[in-house]
Amino acid sequence: MKRMETNSDEFEAQVERMIRISKEKPLLPETYVPWDDEPNQDTLFMPEKLVSLAGHPLWDTLTKEQQIELGRLEVVQVMYSYAWSETLACHFFNRHLLKLNPDSSEYRFLIRELIEEYRHQEMFGMAIKKLDRIPIMPTRLHKFFGNLTVKRLRPSLVFMSVLSIELMADIYAKHIRKDEKVFSVMRKSSELHYIEEGRHIFYTESWLKKFTAKAGFFRATQYSIVVMLNIYFMRTLYVKKEFFQKIGVENPNKYYKAAIKHYRGKFAENSLKASIEFVNSFNGFNWITKPLWRKILKASV
Ligand SMILES: [Fe+2]
Ligand SMILES: [Fe+2]
Repeated sequence: MKRMETNSDEFEAQVERMIRISKEKPLLPETYVPWDDEPNQDTLFMPEKLVSLAGHPLWDTLTKEQQIELGRLEVVQVMYSYAWSETLACHFFNRHLLKLNPDSSEYRFLIRELIEEYRHQEMFGMAIKKLDRIPIMPTRLHKFFGNLTVKRLRPSLVFMSVLSIELMADIYAKHIRKDEKVFSVMRKSSELHYIEEGRHIFYTESWLKKFTAKAGFFRATQYSIVVMLNIYFMRTLYVKKEFFQKIGVENPNKYYKAAIKHYRGKFAENSLKASIEFVNSFNGFNWITKPLWRKILKASV
């Protein structure tokens, strides 16, 4: 009992500290990102390792310009997908706030998170405009499940969904901000996102412990499936056939099919580590969920 109290006191103190940092050291996209920089003909827009086709034999049949253009189209799609999922998350945060006391740390932290998420959405929008490419809108099915999640599911499941997507966004941001060959606008916006999402992830993971710590077999299975479906949901938003038509290859369908298959393997390799650790933390891998993660996400669990 004593230990539980200390833990929750520590958590409260940490949340207060994060609220303070958010207020005292705000990272404003307007000034943090060098919007006036311009790319040259060698500038990449996304690290090659994250581009769907890179590493596949067909990648070498593309010209340098086609390779760069594919990265540009895909990073615009990734940013659009995150902005869209953050808009959905904000919808839920507002719904959740209505039930909270305004002087609670939970309420005050979520207000800071909302402010930051709105800034992120604006930043992604500005970056997309700067890159001057048009993203492809989510399908009707994506819209349906996105709305269903944030409007109808229990808060614990929505927080779990938000966290799954933040863990993935975090890995993209980490790779993009570190790659010197990538356009400064992308690197700095990823850096900003990486710093602020670190706080959101810490908060959401700790908040979820109330639920995950006592999850039995069925709850852990349910949580694990929610995480998996969210990752699957995001992954299907990134790679689009239209991009191969736009870069002007002769057989876009062939390229698209190769890219999607190749990307699945790369994604499993590059982007799943943090999510797998999270699911492991509540014993979410069992005889029901393991085969699903392996089949659907090609995860080695
Ligand atoms: Fe964000
Ligand atoms: Fe976030």
